[in-house]
Amino acid sequence: MYAVESNGFTKHYSGGKIKALSDFCIKIEKGTVFSLLGPNGAGKTTLIKLMLSIAIPTSGEGFILGKKTTDRSSRMSVGYLSENHRFPGFLNAEQVLWYYGKMSGVLSTDLKKRIPVLLKKFNLEEKRKLKTVKYSKGMLQRLGTAQALINDPEVIFLDEPTDGIDPVGRIEIREILLELKERGKTIFINSHLLSEVERISDEIAILKEGRMIKKGRTSDFLESTGEYNIRVEDSKQEIFFNILNSLNIKFAPHKHSASVKINDITELNSVIDSLRDEDILIKGVEEIKGSLEDFFIKIIR
Ligand SMILES: Nc1ncnc2c1ncn2[C@@H]1O[C@H](COP(=O)(O)OP(=O)(O)OP(=O)(O)O)[C@@H](O)[C@H]1O
Ligand SMILES: [Mg+2]
Repeated sequence: MYAVESNGFTKHYSGGKIKALSDFCIKIEKGTVFSLLGPNGAGKTTLIKLMLSIAIPTSGEGFILGKKTTDRSSRMSVGYLSENHRFPGFLNAEQVLWYYGKMSGVLSTDLKKRIPVLLKKFNLEEKRKLKTVKYSKGMLQRLGTAQALINDPEVIFLDEPTDGIDPVGRIEIREILLELKERGKTIFINSHLLSEVERISDEIAILKEGRMIKKGRTSDFLESTGEYNIRVEDSKQEIFFNILNSLNIKFAPHKHSASVKINDITELNSVIDSLRDEDILIKGVEEIKGSLEDFFIKIIR
């Protein structure tokens, strides 16, 4: 049984003129952090709406923990942070969590224990009595994410969770998400923050104009740059650079290493042979991978 499954979900608007999503197929195992990427209007939010029966599919079907998305009970173990969410401004953070917890069917005794824990986790303890109309964008986003966890869900859909959150807050949210993953929760994220996605995702899919153009493990998205970082013993740094020059190898010198442009593994090994011939001790050889952002820009353009 998969945590999230989409079998050909398709959504057209305006009598078929807008093809928001076309034949989307995915199977996500439990305990996976999955990120859906794509430019504005690619269909990311549409997919979440179909998974949660907020929008009705033109065709296709979906399952959450084996239950069909048309079955209300499929949403019992789900947490959801919607894009651009709005809370009633007259409620404070405690009241928001209480209200949403109650709507999710959480018992009052559990809410009394859970709400202070979530407020602390999301750094909202001090502002718990402040009406949310007075909240900053980042504070609302933290509260929205806390709200998504109020029913201790197994599957969590987060539509742009770090939107408007400051860099320290982003690290805190990353830590919370990784802790949830460790507890076996499945996390589905829509995001534009590629450096965040690269750090926490197990799997990624890229949507463009409603069609999936690539999916795979995160490592599949980090392409080889054809460069290696070679570190040698500090005292031999100068001889190291001289050898690279004599071999006519392009490189960028660093304080304790050099990034070396290599055509293939054979060339890498002959560089290593030349260094060893001079009795230089090699401390490390690492392949330099491109970032997810590099890959994303290339594939979208
Ligand atoms: N209710 C609607 N009626 C008509 N068109 C819609 C509706 N909702 C979404 N769309 C269209 O469907 C397409 C996909 O929108 P969606 O919100 O899923 O994109 P997204 O990938 O989430 O974009 P963003 O990164 O900007 O959040 C867009 O062309 C959008 O205009
Ligand atoms: Mg969206």
